[in-house]
Amino acid sequence: MKVNNKHYRSVWAEKNAVIIINQQKLPFEFELLRLTTLDEVIEAIKTLKVRGAPAIGITAAWAMWLEFINNGTIDKTAYQKLIQCRPTAVNIKRGADAVYHTFLNQTQQAKQLWQAAQQFADSEIEACKLIGQHGYKLLQQLYKEKQKTLNILTHCNAGWLACGDYGTALAPIFEAHSNGLPVHVWVDETRPLNQGARLTAWELANEQIPFDIISDNSGALLMMLNKVDAVMVGADRIVKNGDFANKIGTYQKALAAREHHVPFWVAAPHTTFDLSIDNGLQIPIEQRHGNELQFISGMYQQQRIEIALFPNSFSSVNHAFDITPASLVNAYITEKGIFENIKSWL
Ligand code: MRU
Repeated sequence: MKVNNKHYRSVWAEKNAVIIINQQKLPFEFELLRLTTLDEVIEAIKTLKVRGAPAIGITAAWAMWLEFINNGTIDKTAYQKLIQCRPTAVNIKRGADAVYHTFLNQTQQAKQLWQAAQQFADSEIEACKLIGQHGYKLLQQLYKEKQKTLNILTHCNAGWLACGDYGTALAPIFEAHSNGLPVHVWVDETRPLNQGARLTAWELANEQIPFDIISDNSGALLMMLNKVDAVMVGADRIVKNGDFANKIGTYQKALAAREHHVPFWVAAPHTTFDLSIDNGLQIPIEQRHGNELQFISGMYQQQRIEIALFPNSFSSVNHAFDITPASLVNAYITEKGIFENIKSWL
């Protein structure tokens, strides 16, 4: 996507380095970070400087290449450290595997590992482009029925920053907007790290797509008032029975959508599917540090500051993801098309 008329991916590689758009600094600062070691990449992933399931998958692929050019080899510990650094999104393993397995198959030349990583990145991004085109068909259908601006609610950030390019849940919205179909987006702020208010809103503003940021608790009311035409979210892992993990708060939106007969759609490339797990309860849920709940960061007089919402003595628990049961999903949008249930996809 374009930023100030220049096309960017959210992660790519250049000579001896992985380059990321620093998502921690958005929307106030647009900063590129140059990562030159595996440890720097792992730190960037853990601190969400690069985040979103497909984007961390692509970063992991480049990280394995980086490890090879720095050390002339990729040892198993380095591979494992990388794939365990964020446990919920299966994409990180998919990306690391694309390069590590190439390496294990006796392809031990930097150029070939570069090609494996580039191929993985390109195919993820192509998948997201196709998700946009397929999902757009759902929006066209809905527009035919409603004949008015479509109000789409989304949670977290499943746009191009989260995916390398295009996005998953936001890709159909970008596609609709560029084809002249009127859309307005309800953007859940997505506490505690505010990926919605900071990143989704920034992406939509860049494309001049109308949106409103709403508190995480507003969705059910808006659905009750008939102000939501569909809910569209991304996923971090979709398992064999169709249950899926996504940013904490997704499940509540799915419950409210079912109660109010609002279609609930989940968009993801095939690399987010994990058929080795039978149901959602088996998905590892990342629990992050409580200081993400305790401190809020923002701009004050053009300076980035952090303030505490409660004292250190207060205890907190910070689950980063939740699980939405397959029974609440109306459609899975993948690069292969639209599927009403996972069995028709398999
Ligand atoms: O913790 P994050 O910001 O990496 O969580 C990301 C999400 O939950 C996204 O919705 C998901 O990765 C889908 S992104 C296309």
